[in-house]
Amino acid sequence: MNILITGGSGFIGKNFIKSLLNKNKIHKIINVDLNKKNFFFHSKVKNIKSDIGNKKNIISILKNYNPSFIVNFAAHTHVDRSIYEPINFIRNNILKTAIFFEAIREEYSKNKNFRILHVSTDEVYGSLKSKEKSFSEKNKYFPNNPYSASKASADHLAQSYFKTFKFPILVSNCSNNYGPFQNPEKLIPLIINNCINKKNIPIYGKGDQVRDWLHVEDHCSALWKILRKGRLGENYNIGGTEECTNLYITLEICKIMDGFINDGKNSKNLIKFVKDRPGHDFRYSINYDKIKNELKWEPKVSLKKGLYNTVKWYLQSHKWLKNQSTKNHNLWIKKNYEDR
Ligand code: TYD
Repeated sequence: MNILITGGSGFIGKNFIKSLLNKNKIHKIINVDLNKKNFFFHSKVKNIKSDIGNKKNIISILKNYNPSFIVNFAAHTHVDRSIYEPINFIRNNILKTAIFFEAIREEYSKNKNFRILHVSTDEVYGSLKSKEKSFSEKNKYFPNNPYSASKASADHLAQSYFKTFKFPILVSNCSNNYGPFQNPEKLIPLIINNCINKKNIPIYGKGDQVRDWLHVEDHCSALWKILRKGRLGENYNIGGTEECTNLYITLEICKIMDGFINDGKNSKNLIKFVKDRPGHDFRYSINYDKIKNELKWEPKVSLKKGLYNTVKWYLQSHKWLKNQSTKNHNLWIKKNYEDR
């Protein structure tokens, strides 16, 4: 059995590929990604540099490898970037996703047997107040920034393809992920990276926003279940049950860092409160009863253990970290968040 992954050079895609390596049923993992620098090399993995919006390429990949499963991770994912380059998000996350679906529809219209999982986010549901009920799959979509709006659009496209064309697709909506290989523009690796380099840790607003943290390994095990056993045309929420404020998680990571670095300095002194993100969602929280009841999935990695292991991984992965480019982003952050 072959499986096609898009965006396998990215954070979650790469972790998903790694989680598939010991599955005997899988013969070949085909990764389609534009980011050659971050390819994951293994005898089971065939990396192909291509845009998912290149219909001709996608059709030829489908013909060559005939995958039974397809998982679509390819997307621009950073909310802050979507604020300063929204069109890129709309082009990639909506238009190219639609072309990708079209390529599959065209090639697989010959009654081929396959399932496709479109990986999305809980941010499509919008923002919750402190005491409001967690997002369930029945919640309406209320995206608040160009990133979440682009993901919401793609989710709607996926559902429409299921209804209109009987496209065998499923959608998953996860909470904030963390773990190895996450780009240091995102909160957790940014804190770790800035502690290593003794740079300020910018906390937006008061740092009282709440996120529900999910370890990427737990996310990957949920995706594998949904892909094989989920009901076609359905959405499945995936959460970590580890809700905390941005300030809390920052202080926790600073403590872990101090334990590792042990140079008598206090990492928490690097925290700098900066201007808030425009349209900043206050709280995300996931109700994952559906996947728990239907597919018997639950998260296993506690935030405490997951954070410790993540810090350790970043400290041991200097070379990888150095290779990740965050320059333009850092300049933008400086200009828009730090200069009040
Ligand atoms: P992020 O990792 O960008 O994920 P998302 O926006 O998808 O939730 O940010 C997580 C939270 O951390 C979010 O509330 C914004 C906040 N944040 C900061 O306070 N400072 C930062 O430098 C970054 C990147 C994020």
